Amino acid sequence: MAEAILCGLQSSGHPGAKLKYSEPFEERRHYMQTKYPDMVGSADNFEVIEGADVVILAVKPQVLRQVMSSCSDLLLKNPSTLIISIAAGITTEDMHKWMHTDKPVNIVRCMPNTPSLLGEGAAGLFATENVTLQQKETAENIMRAVAKQVLWVQDEGLIDSVTGISGSGPAYFFLIMEAMQNAGVAAGLTPEDAKALTLQTCLGATKMAQTSEDDLATLRRKVTSPKGTTEAAINSLEANNIRKVMKDAVFAAANRGRELSRELGQEQ
Ligand SMILES: NC(=O)c1ccc[n+]([C@@H]2O[C@H](COP(=O)([O-])OP(=O)(O)OC[C@H]3O[C@@H](n4cnc5c(N)ncnc54)[C@H](OP(=O)(O)O)[C@@H]3O)[C@@H](O)[C@H]2O)c1
Repeated sequence: MAEAILCGLQSSGHPGAKLKYSEPFEERRHYMQTKYPDMVGSADNFEVIEGADVVILAVKPQVLRQVMSSCSDLLLKNPSTLIISIAAGITTEDMHKWMHTDKPVNIVRCMPNTPSLLGEGAAGLFATENVTLQQKETAENIMRAVAKQVLWVQDEGLIDSVTGISGSGPAYFFLIMEAMQNAGVAAGLTPEDAKALTLQTCLGATKMAQTSEDDLATLRRKVTSPKGTTEAAINSLEANNIRKVMKDAVFAAANRGRELSRELGQEQ
């Protein structure tokens, strides 16, 4: 995810020399140095954080506490440093606690998703109250380098809802596309043809939904002629409770996000 953000920033015009990253694993650092020779790589978090206006924390949630605690002095050295965390499930309150300070800290919490790797991401952002408008703009511009949709939520709890829709969402579509491909094969198509038709249909439907002024329900009705083939399929999906299946899935992901916050947040 860190590579996607760095790559997106460079592609959108940020000079590589101003982009620094820390990567403890030598082989991976070598890969980064070869692929992005203009950027400044290091094995040392301190070296990268020193003097930075914006620090993006893109480590696994389980590692974040150790990183924040060890870098706390440096992160707090310049009160205007903006900290952006993309770690799933870690609240801004826990991050603040792990920095062992009473001072306000400028933290933006972000939930991106994997299509960010292609610049097609969707992301939800939440800012703590002392984050300035200018810093919010900076955070938004950074995420726009990899995400086509960047939305702010006013209540941090809604980051879990973002997780339920877009954070975990790509996997729902992979599953649906897999099921459609399998159904096509069961109906006699080759796996290759079933996959090609499924993927293009998904892409085409998304583009129609993005460009049309109609809402999703209207679009569906417009392609569902009475007593036609699509109506037969939609009736079957509704009879199998597709809406409840999707709602349960979104809520399961959001609840798991809250559970992770509680589990990881208990660390002092
Ligand atoms: N992937 C997603 O779809 C997605 C979506 C939303 C949010 N996120 C969040 O994004 C974060 C990163 O996820 P990811 O999938 O990109 O994980 P990842 O590929 O494992 O990247 C984590 C990076 O952090 C490095 N690291 C480990 N310990 C470190 C330390 N002490 N100091 C500095 N760097 C350290 C790792 O180095 P090594 O190479 O040595 O392991 C690795 O390069 C996670 O918190 C995740 O919750 C991910």
